[in-house]
Amino acid sequence: MLDPKSPLSLSISDLYLGTLAIAAVILLLVTGLVLYSIVKFRARPGDEEPPANFGHLRLEIAWTAGPFLILVVLAVFTVNTMGTSDPDPGKGSTPDIIVVGHQWWWEIRYPQAGSTTVFTTANEIHMAAGKKTLFQLESADVIHDLWIPDLGRKMDMTPNYHHQLYLQSNEPGTYLGACAEYCGAEHAWMLIKAIVQPPAEFDAWQQAQLQRQSVPTSGTAARGWQVFSQKTCINCHAINGTGANSYVGPDLTHLASRTTLGAGVLTNTRDNLQKWIADPHAVKPSVYMPKVQMTAEELQSLVDYLETLK
Ligand code: CUA
Repeated sequence: MLDPKSPLSLSISDLYLGTLAIAAVILLLVTGLVLYSIVKFRARPGDEEPPANFGHLRLEIAWTAGPFLILVVLAVFTVNTMGTSDPDPGKGSTPDIIVVGHQWWWEIRYPQAGSTTVFTTANEIHMAAGKKTLFQLESADVIHDLWIPDLGRKMDMTPNYHHQLYLQSNEPGTYLGACAEYCGAEHAWMLIKAIVQPPAEFDAWQQAQLQRQSVPTSGTAARGWQVFSQKTCINCHAINGTGANSYVGPDLTHLASRTTLGAGVLTNTRDNLQKWIADPHAVKPSVYMPKVQMTAEELQSLVDYLETLK
């Protein structure tokens, strides 16, 4: 939050630091006056009872007007920040990216890529650097909350509602985010990565994501596809171009090009993929992906196949 990468997040961090400065001055002032009074007006041996004071008009006006003015200043700062950090996209604006919160992962859709073509990915958002990107936030089940602090404000994802917000980074890089609304047992393992790329690199990534996969016809990958389509995998996962088109779980079309598995719980290596499929609950105990019974040979072939999904 204190390392803002866009005008949107900069305004939030400025508000935070400004409020902190005002609060620090008040803290020092009040603490100083209390300490001063303790020392200056402490009881000394032989002192008489101090006189009782009832009311002091000028002081009372000052300590009413002072806090009022401070709150007015903070309110102006806050309203100003709200306008900068959360610009109104206008009714019915077409989002660049749709993020759907699921227990416990993120579905990420690109509705405009390549004109009308749509592709879907999971848990990693790719964005073009310097572009104010309009997100539409949805939920498939309970309330989640998308928060990538370096790039802008956070916002709830509420079932049956579409919320929109802008996020932006002017610096390419990888920015981490998380779900910021408790959404069940695996809330803590609902991490999200924003990968901000120079525009040309981002376009190339989009083109690669639009590529469809074909069903392998030879080798262990062909055997792996057989396992994928005959075990229960195909009931929940989509792989574009193969006829697998269920969106209960993450789209796997370009699984091998992602950096993590299980919404950030494992880095995406062959060994980890195998571990994940062999027993998802050993890695992420409440995950909805079932443990599917398969032989060692079936598991190896399935992993061989999934590793081809670049
Ligand atoms: Cu999703 Cu917390």
